[in-house]
Amino acid sequence: MLHPHAPIQHARPGGPALSKPMVIAIDGPAGAGKSTVTRMVAHRLGILYLDTGAMYRAATVGLIEAGVALDDADAVATWVNQRHIDFDDHGQVRLDRTVMAREDIRSPSTTAQIWRVANNGGCRHHLVRLQQELLAGRDAVVEGRDATTVICPDAQLKLYLDASPEERARRRLAEWPANEPRPELTEVARQIRERDDRDRNREVGALTLSDEAVHLVTDGLRIDEVVARIIAYAVQRQPFLLEKLLADQLTVGRSRQPGYVSVAHGDPGEGWQLGLTNPTLDRQPGTTTALSRNHGGRQAGTLAQGYAVLVFAGRGEHPGHVVALPMLPQTWYVIEPGCWHAVVQQPGTICAWAESRGIHEERMELTADHRAELDAYVDVYLPK
Ligand code: DC
Repeated sequence: MLHPHAPIQHARPGGPALSKPMVIAIDGPAGAGKSTVTRMVAHRLGILYLDTGAMYRAATVGLIEAGVALDDADAVATWVNQRHIDFDDHGQVRLDRTVMAREDIRSPSTTAQIWRVANNGGCRHHLVRLQQELLAGRDAVVEGRDATTVICPDAQLKLYLDASPEERARRRLAEWPANEPRPELTEVARQIRERDDRDRNREVGALTLSDEAVHLVTDGLRIDEVVARIIAYAVQRQPFLLEKLLADQLTVGRSRQPGYVSVAHGDPGEGWQLGLTNPTLDRQPGTTTALSRNHGGRQAGTLAQGYAVLVFAGRGEHPGHVVALPMLPQTWYVIEPGCWHAVVQQPGTICAWAESRGIHEERMELTADHRAELDAYVDVYLPK
């Protein structure tokens, strides 16, 4: 995970128009799975993760420890405005440079008092300013209640992550601290509804599902499927987002002039063979069950007609997480030897392929987890 002190990297193909940082803003009610999912998206993309809820939690713990009168809104705002809140190198929240213990900031008794800070306009103004400073010029995934509306109104991707109160109550109970009395599911669901009401109805920084946000309901979805969907939505907004991560598996050659594209040099002594592919029955959305791995040469493909998705799952003996890219027109994708890959083509699609002679392919069946991840990407890129 990158943290706020990590160096900023902005090498981007395509020049200044694409050099704006990629910001993914995620809002949603308590317990919708935001923290887990957001952390994983940031980790997979290698960009900053900003957990704004942790900042509200840190301020609340600090207020309680300092003995500030919690029902005095002015005293609360004055105290919070004098605090500096940020994160250490491991992503742990700090109040005036002191790391706050996770058990303290996440304890149910802290959670019950957070509204004193969250509903206080003076506190919110200060925290939003600190959050925007942490984000300045960085690629980031930001989660909270006002990430899409107040902190990052210009985010390229806005998501509203949701789940039913019962599903959220089940998730909360699954991680309930062993040393705290365990409430009934219906009681946790009641508290969640109460917190939703507070989050949705406060005068400042209210949780809102705006028209611009993708509404993603996570009931019944596995975490990896949610992560895959979010990355797919992000790639739709920034097509070259994944290239850096796949640099050892994929070379992308884009045309500078219509009709001319520079493809990788063939392997020395090996000619290239060319061909066109139609989507076979096992290569269409929802039907892909296996990945291949090349030995002894490279493959290069480009889209001639229709829509297709290129799938990667890492190098090595076993495929890792599935990542998929929509194939862009006028672009050649060169697949490096040794990486697990597949192509998913919509019916009616034609791809042109070149591969070095002497190449041979190994095949591996996808696991159920891999297929779920793959289907999540394909659902976004090639909707039915
Ligand atoms: O995401 P979380 O559960 O850790 O957030 C803790 C509380 O902080 C939650 O009750 C709402 C509040 N919050 C907020 O008002 N604005 C944010 N950007 C993030 C959290």
